[in-house]
Amino acid sequence: MIRSVVRGNGAALPRRIMKNADFEGMVETSDEWIVQRTGIRQRHVAADDETTASLGEAAARAALDSAGMTSADIDLIILATSTPNNTFPATAVEIQNQLGMHHGFAFDMQAVCSGFVYAVATADLYIRGGLAKRVLVIGSETFSRILDWNDRSTCVLFGDGAGALVLEAEGGAGAITDRGVLAASLRSDGVHKDKLFVDGGPSTTGTVGHLRMEGREVFKHAVGMITDVIEATFGEAGITAEDLDWFVPHQANKRIIDASAKKLGIAEQKVVVTVDLHGNTSAASVPLALSVAVADGRIKKGDLVLLEAMGGGFTWGAVLLRW
Ligand code: UT7
Repeated sequence: MIRSVVRGNGAALPRRIMKNADFEGMVETSDEWIVQRTGIRQRHVAADDETTASLGEAAARAALDSAGMTSADIDLIILATSTPNNTFPATAVEIQNQLGMHHGFAFDMQAVCSGFVYAVATADLYIRGGLAKRVLVIGSETFSRILDWNDRSTCVLFGDGAGALVLEAEGGAGAITDRGVLAASLRSDGVHKDKLFVDGGPSTTGTVGHLRMEGREVFKHAVGMITDVIEATFGEAGITAEDLDWFVPHQANKRIIDASAKKLGIAEQKVVVTVDLHGNTSAASVPLALSVAVADGRIKKGDLVLLEAMGGGFTWGAVLLRW
């Protein structure tokens, strides 16, 4: 059978770092509150010349370099984002052009913080369906542009950045020992739409709007939803938590990550945590975390890696792959 195997990965972050203490003069908050409640210590914030397209392009170039490929080798670009450069055209098409790629096709995928997990699962289907051989999967966000900087309950939580993977078709035995994407489970339920949303849009207000979140409500659902979809993924693959080498969760809150890992029985040393460095970068959080764990030598060829995310909608999902 055909498997979608990771050939390369990359990341890009805005130049400017904002520490927790930098918020202390802006809203009523403290480094202590932010660290204790979330684990976040800093986040990167895009300057005017840094956009979802430019960060996504930089991450894509890094991923292509690490794969030893150029955009000429790619058939499809899927960009997971909720902060596109424009309402349309898709920012993926802008990145395609910036990469000098004028063949194949590109589109955006909108599943908020779950976007990258949705995009990897989608890329895998295009590859296994024979519609693409090599796919660039990017998560890129500039949430700083949609934050209400006077709302302390949200503005301290999010950051900007981008990460990317190159996936390529390769023959596999259909076994758990294959490299590539092995299982995926995706979920959504719009009954929760008012708990985490943006209060503007082209077809309603005609404005971009600002992010609004009932944090406590999201928190309440997060661990149950995450563990549920991961257990479904384990079931599909016929594995248990003990078989995993690395757990790379969405980086929204260290307490959610810890509680999910504990409930699933995933050992602490197998959990990749970057929320302290990046904050919540929505669809970029999982590929950014992957890039850190690959760069420092933790994730190696042949390792069994579980990706997970949960976010606005609600949307949630998990992907199991062998690196
Ligand atoms: O990526 C998509 C998924 N998103 C998430 O997973 C986010 C999920 N939610 C969370 O991570 C947490 O709920 C938060 C970090 C957003 C909040 O933590 P919490 O422990 O749930 O705190 P809370 O919302 O219950 O707020 C506790 C107190 C409140 O004051 P009162 O009502 O107890 O007087 C807040 O007003 O903390 C206050 N507060 C703050 N204080 C200092 C809220 N934001 C801040 C702040 N600094 N930045």
